[in-house]
Amino acid sequence: MGSFIERDHKKVSFIAALLLSSGLCTAGVHQAAATEPHLEKAIRDGEALFVHETFGGAGNTCQTCHVEGGAGPGKSSKGDAIPSLANAATIYPRFNPKANKVETLEDKIGHCIAGALRGKPPAYGSEQMTQLVSYITSLAQGKPLDMGGKPQ
Ligand code: HEC
Repeated sequence: MGSFIERDHKKVSFIAALLLSSGLCTAGVHQAAATEPHLEKAIRDGEALFVHETFGGAGNTCQTCHVEGGAGPGKSSKGDAIPSLANAATIYPRFNPKANKVETLEDKIGHCIAGALRGKPPAYGSEQMTQLVSYITSLAQGKPLDMGGKPQ
């Protein structure tokens, strides 16, 4: 009887340790992306731009095509597949064969605003560009860097 309780106790503490460590891991990932209040605000402001801002264009927002806040794969109105932005921050800089140029994440965001939104991209180094980069980078928190890799 005594040994049974002993074994059970060990099992319980093992499970408790597992739960605790997985809880800590999740908290750790969240923490790195969001405990610094200025960074947290930049991410939130970037998300608001992503969902609501048309940048003076034809009325679309990022979310029109990049659904689920960019976390899921999207579809254009013509039905073409649109990549998820879940790992976008890990694969730039990338070579764009059409432009014959290596592009950064800012370049790509600017191209989507000028092309897909038909709007005016915020300047490099502007608050809005930093907020969009912060938000899109937060989607990829914890994912390995894969410069030049493929969109998810
Ligand atoms: C009309 C649809 C449409 C809208 C609106 C749109 N995009 Fe895109 N976006 C695309 C398509 C299609 C691609 C993939 C083809 C390409 O790379 O150009 C893409 C690709 C991207 C990529 C690169 C993804 C990767 O992993 O290579 C980023 C980053 C991006 N968009 C950001 C944005 C942001 C930020 C906005 C809002 C300011 C936005 N997009 C609005 C259609 C759109």
